[in-house]
Amino acid sequence: MVTYDPADHYERLAKNYDDTWSHRPDYVGWMNQRVFDRLQIEPGDHVADIGAGTGLFLRSLVRHVTEDNPIVCIDPSRSMLNQLPDDPRLHPVCASAEAVAAGEVGLPYDWLDAIVIKETIHHFTNIPKTLFGLAERLAPGGRLLVVTLPRRPQYPLFTAALDRFAEHQPEPDDIASAMRDAGLDVTLDYDAFTVRVNADHYAHLVTRRWMSVLSTFDDEQLAEGLEEMRTRNVSGELTFPDRFAFVFGKRT
Ligand SMILES: C[S@@+](CC[C@H](N)C(=O)[O-])C[C@H]1O[C@@H](n2cnc3c(N)ncnc32)[C@H](O)[C@@H]1O
Repeated sequence: MVTYDPADHYERLAKNYDDTWSHRPDYVGWMNQRVFDRLQIEPGDHVADIGAGTGLFLRSLVRHVTEDNPIVCIDPSRSMLNQLPDDPRLHPVCASAEAVAAGEVGLPYDWLDAIVIKETIHHFTNIPKTLFGLAERLAPGGRLLVVTLPRRPQYPLFTAALDRFAEHQPEPDDIASAMRDAGLDVTLDYDAFTVRVNADHYAHLVTRRWMSVLSTFDDEQLAEGLEEMRTRNVSGELTFPDRFAFVFGKRT
């Protein structure tokens, strides 16, 4: 296995990150709406996105804030944050979730009404401790939403990549337990978006190592994996469900 540093991975990916989703604009809207529906942002709410990346999935939320209560976009990758739209309703903070949870980072707000963590929690070094620290920053009635892939997504990837992904991906039930231990009322549900994509385009995304697990394979291993995918998917068109866990917690 290639040792990889998430920081290098996102450094390399940052400029092309949004293009990764350009073949499925419907998905971006779908996910934005699901995040918005769960967080129920009220005027004046203080919102933070942890692992905000390029802000692609903040579009539905940003319409509900103003420059007086910008969304705090927290990410340790400066290159990802540099891709955020130039918008006074977004306030970038270059820091890790762990540092925010430990109170080591100054935020523009003492308390947060809503926190979203989308496809980022698998990077946390200690999930229960970090969620506990983040939950402590919630105001009464504050909401924390974790959006994450299940351990075994039904992606048409090569087997070794799916196996390695499963080894490192946290179980949504364990995330829910950690949020309960942090004092939140928690619900866990799943929702799926049907992806239809050209097999060559999907292979191109794999070549670009768009998922961080793919950065743990060297060029030769990746070429073998692509060959496996090619022999399996002969139709030229791929259809599969992109299923997500939504773990929602509320401070009462
Ligand atoms: C797959 S991207 C998701 C970005 C965005 N949430 C989205 O859904 O498009 C994961 C993001 O997590 C960030 N990240 C990695 N380690 C982190 C940590 N310890 N705390 C917070 N964010 C982290 C990466 O820099 C990257 O921007």
